[in-house]
Amino acid sequence: MSLADRSLVTTDDLSNEEIEAVFSLADEMSDSINKQSTVCQGKVMASLFFEPSTRTRLSFETAMHRLGGNVISAVDIGATSLAKGESIADMARVVGDYADIIVIRHPWEGAAKVVADYAGVPVINAGDGSHEHPTQTLCDLYTLKKERGTIRGLRIALCGDLKYGRTIHSLIYALARFGVARIYFCPGRGLKMPPHVLRKLTQEYGGTLYQHPITKPPSLGQRVDAIYVTPSESHQLALMPDIEINIDISEGALYVTRLQKERAKDANQEAVSTEGYPVINADLLKGKEFKHTIVMHPLPRLDELAYEIDADPRSMYFKQAARGVPIRMALIALLLGAKKTDISKPEALPAQKIAYPVYKQEFGVRCANSNCVSTQKGETRYIKPEFKMVDLKPLTLRCVYCEHETHPPYIASSDWHQGLLTNKKYHGAASHLTRKIKPENLIIFDSESEAQARGFKPSSYAIRKGE
Ligand code: NCD
Repeated sequence: MSLADRSLVTTDDLSNEEIEAVFSLADEMSDSINKQSTVCQGKVMASLFFEPSTRTRLSFETAMHRLGGNVISAVDIGATSLAKGESIADMARVVGDYADIIVIRHPWEGAAKVVADYAGVPVINAGDGSHEHPTQTLCDLYTLKKERGTIRGLRIALCGDLKYGRTIHSLIYALARFGVARIYFCPGRGLKMPPHVLRKLTQEYGGTLYQHPITKPPSLGQRVDAIYVTPSESHQLALMPDIEINIDISEGALYVTRLQKERAKDANQEAVSTEGYPVINADLLKGKEFKHTIVMHPLPRLDELAYEIDADPRSMYFKQAARGVPIRMALIALLLGAKKTDISKPEALPAQKIAYPVYKQEFGVRCANSNCVSTQKGETRYIKPEFKMVDLKPLTLRCVYCEHETHPPYIASSDWHQGLLTNKKYHGAASHLTRKIKPENLIIFDSESEAQARGFKPSSYAIRKGE
């Protein structure tokens, strides 16, 4: 089977078997890294990095050079026509005509999906705002496999910025899919895992989330905020809900990230601070509970990872970064069709597992995330808001671009009773009508003025309080 012509926008775009195939090819590539110079000969990779990057950009570019391909690049929005107001879609179409594959990093969530929708060539998301960073996840999983032999059954603590850290968001879904046993969440203050990530995790990958602090990790100096127990272990724990669970990652991993200051300052969210931010240092690693724990970090680091542990054999972060080259070589070669996998029968992709009804209308409701590509001025000219209806009680829409959730307050039916204008009514989204109206007839509004602008009048179910 071939992965040719596919894009990698989120980790859901690859099945577990396909990820394993990337790893096998990466093994081959790293064993003979100097003998790959004809694999992508004559191919061109466009490297578009509109946010700072060292590892990701240079490892992608190194990978393409090692495969014998060529690289064109743009690293500054200000030096591209985006600065003149060009849309991402137009840029994608143009670059897709020049290059055989595009790697994009962009500060807006969902930007990589737009590029993939319009470029006509494979697109790799190298980080879109705080949404996802799937190739970092490939490096992380590959490191876990190499250092621990398997991912299944591991216990892993995720520390630091769980709110804005895109590497964390991509990683968590993959960990669940590969059957880790437990994930401990240790966020910095105001940096908890966002609700939309938690919903996707439990609704789509199963398992149980214990949101109340169950224990204090002995020396992380930080309260465990929640524990996610994957399906293989959840049954056992559900039988003993009050049990005192001690953080136990001695045979697992501690994955820490820096505070994503650049994103926290943009968002008008609750204040974040480095006070009480988890710090991994020699003192902490002295604890016997961390005797064999490996320490991972996507880098760059700030103060959360002390330099004094760099020589410690448990520290894996520079290995993680070095593995970025063979991993990205394997991925580029597969997406360009220069290499094939030996998967005979493809598994369903995780993204296809639950067929949520899709809601797509030009009017009425927009994504509530101000950093979503679908809400940006120039992009609204062509992007129609599109959502997956992930819940009806309460009505919950997940934006297909950034995956943030919106809870719109009003609904109506396009098939109003007997076609009489007097029956053109809107209702509170919490009323039973949300579940009664056929999905194909449902119209959703994020305000009363939107509903009224479309000629709808309030019904007796339009009162939000006490519906
Ligand atoms: C990460 C990123 O860009 O999200 N860096 C990387 O690609 N290794 C993590 C970070 O910037 O903190």
